[in-house]
Amino acid sequence: MDSLRKLYPWFALLGLAVGGLVLAGYYKDEFREWKRWQQEYAAQELNRATTPEQKEQARALPIEIKQIVLPELQRVDRCTTCHLAVEDSSYAGVKQPLAYHPNHARHPFEKFGCTICHQGQGRATEREAAHGRVAHWEHPMLAMKYIEASCAKCHAATDVPRSPLLARGRALFEEQGCIGCHKLGGFGGNLGPELDKVGAKRSPEWLAKHFKSPAELVPGSGMPPVKRSDADVAALTLFMLGQTGERLTEYYVSMKTIPGPDIGQRLFGQKGCIGCHSVGGKGGTVGPALDGVTQRRTTDWIVKHFRDPAAISPESVMPKFNFTESEIRSLASFLGSLTGADVLSFMKIPAQASPVERGRAVYLKYGCGGCHGTSGEGGVPNHNAKSNQQIPPLTAANDLADVFLESFITEGVPEIGKLDPNGPKPPIYMPGFGDKISEGELADLISYLRSLKP
Ligand code: HEC
Ligand code: HEC
Ligand code: HEC
Ligand code: HEC
Ligand code: HEC
Ligand code: HEC
Repeated sequence: MDSLRKLYPWFALLGLAVGGLVLAGYYKDEFREWKRWQQEYAAQELNRATTPEQKEQARALPIEIKQIVLPELQRVDRCTTCHLAVEDSSYAGVKQPLAYHPNHARHPFEKFGCTICHQGQGRATEREAAHGRVAHWEHPMLAMKYIEASCAKCHAATDVPRSPLLARGRALFEEQGCIGCHKLGGFGGNLGPELDKVGAKRSPEWLAKHFKSPAELVPGSGMPPVKRSDADVAALTLFMLGQTGERLTEYYVSMKTIPGPDIGQRLFGQKGCIGCHSVGGKGGTVGPALDGVTQRRTTDWIVKHFRDPAAISPESVMPKFNFTESEIRSLASFLGSLTGADVLSFMKIPAQASPVERGRAVYLKYGCGGCHGTSGEGGVPNHNAKSNQQIPPLTAANDLADVFLESFITEGVPEIGKLDPNGPKPPIYMPGFGDKISEGELADLISYLRSLKP
């Protein structure tokens, strides 16, 4: 009994400690950051209220966790618990988190939430956790300078309006011939890993550093360093970050290609319109010249005519192409751009290109430049390769007969001669393209190689 009494002071102390913890918990909860922003928002609303009803409404604003539930995206985004005014344009330019969100009309928050574009941790209500800057959260919020990467999850990277860095990154990816060693979307080489999900796996910092010096991060890496400006490396990094391999339901990818004149121009080339129509005095004469057609015809007429030419112009011989509405919008906007100076740039449609120009396109398509330089100039390192520890340039193709060029390209060179016979195998070999490349492409490619001068 006595011994128990001795413990009384300890019980008392324990009781105090528990009480303290409860109190601390209460205070922590009461002073959670989000509550502060909601109080601040309510105060601002009250301040802005002019009528008694508005004041009443402002006073009645509940202090509560807000969330957007997105079953199709498998997300619950609570960002609007703090970012309360994203939909109220009168909050434009106000300090975060109480600012209006520009340009969201095309992506209503109730369908898109926030994290599909920004990443971060949707369910969290503490700032650092929500912004994903905590351990064990794989998708920290994208820095704003990389935000365009998200557009590529749903839209083709080449033509998203207001996304110049994304378009630049996509163009560099092609120009640098990355596809010569990497698969993206099922197409490309095998020397490096597939890149379809790399944006979900690697951080922007890692990617940028790896581009500049692959071997520093991955010892013995066969990937050649990207010798480009910091801005270009950032654009490539951004393009990679958009490759997250996320599986999205139909609605979210329904606008894969955003209609625009570039797509219209592509369709114009692919569908052979020029066989029947002329532009800038060149082309066929079965149908009318198309310069200035948008001055003769209304957009509505043009759209209906594409849907079914014969329904608008009885007995028209123009085929019904079964275009989608988005393709029709693209063609109409392309036709609208056919004025004066534009006609010249338009003349570069594939069907009219020279064999050398077409060959250049083949060179880009298969990523030859990733190994031989963007214009065949060589200089790409290949450790311990007999050819000067570099991949050879292609500027001496004229010294090789067609049959040799053809067999190099179709069969490749699986074993590269070693400089030091006792040294390691050179990491980069020449893959064979025989099972991929068509005869026409091969002929064009050879024309291009022959045009290269040292
Ligand atoms: C607890 C409140 C809170 C929550 C929850 C919250 N934020 Fe924020 N957010 C802020 C505050 C405060 C700022 C401004 C200060 C700062 O940048 O930390 C901010 C800033 C931002 C910025 C601008 C950052 C920059 O680099 O310019 C973005 C983007 C953003 N939040 C997105 C989100 C997204 C997406 C979510 C949900 C995953 C989210 N926020 C959840 C409070 C919050
Ligand atoms: C469709 C993609 C997309 C969605 C969805 C989206 N945002 Fe944004 N957000 C952007 C882009 C792009 C910007 C840059 C501003 C602009 O539109 O030009 C931006 C800007 C911001 C900013 C300002 C950052 C700064 O530097 O000032 C904040 C904060 C923000 N978003 C939070 C949110 C929150 C919260 C949600 C969800 C309610 C959300 N965003 C949903 C794409 C998106
Ligand atoms: C999760 C998928 C998704 C993401 C991410 C996304 N979009 Fe979209 N976007 C869509 C869908 C779906 C539509 C069509 C919406 C509709 O009309 O219902 C659309 C529509 C658009 C349109 C209008 C197209 C037209 O002509 O009607 C533009 C422009 C656009 N998005 C640009 C962007 C930009 C810029 C970003 C990156 C900041 C982005 N999108 C991110 C899915 C997405
Ligand atoms: C000569 C072949 C070659 C070329 C050309 C090449 N890569 Fe690589 N790449 C590799 C190899 C091999 C690896 C694996 C070793 C490493 O991570 O460095 C790699 C790794 C990568 C990784 C890391 C992938 C991961 O899952 O960790 C990225 C990202 C990448 N390359 C992007 C690019 C881009 C973008 C280009 C064009 C600018 C490019 N590569 C050009 C061979 C190449
Ligand atoms: C087989 C020949 C043929 C092909 C191929 C063809 N058209 Fe036509 N197109 C015609 C003829 C004939 C007319 C005039 C009769 C009519 O209005 O349908 C015409 C009319 C038009 C008009 C209306 C011109 C005006 O001034 O009234 C437009 C616009 C047009 N075509 C665009 C195109 C586009 C774009 C393509 C390719 C996607 C295309 N056409 C393919 C034969 C063709
Ligand atoms: C993954 C890297 C890689 C890619 C992609 C690649 N090559 Fe090569 N190529 C090489 C290497 C390495 C050699 C040197 C072979 C040797 O040492 O015999 C080579 C050799 C050649 C040669 C012989 C040059 C000479 O002077 O001996 C030609 C021609 C050639 N490649 C053309 C192409 C074309 C065209 C493409 C695109 C269709 C292409 N290569 C894509 C790595 C590559």
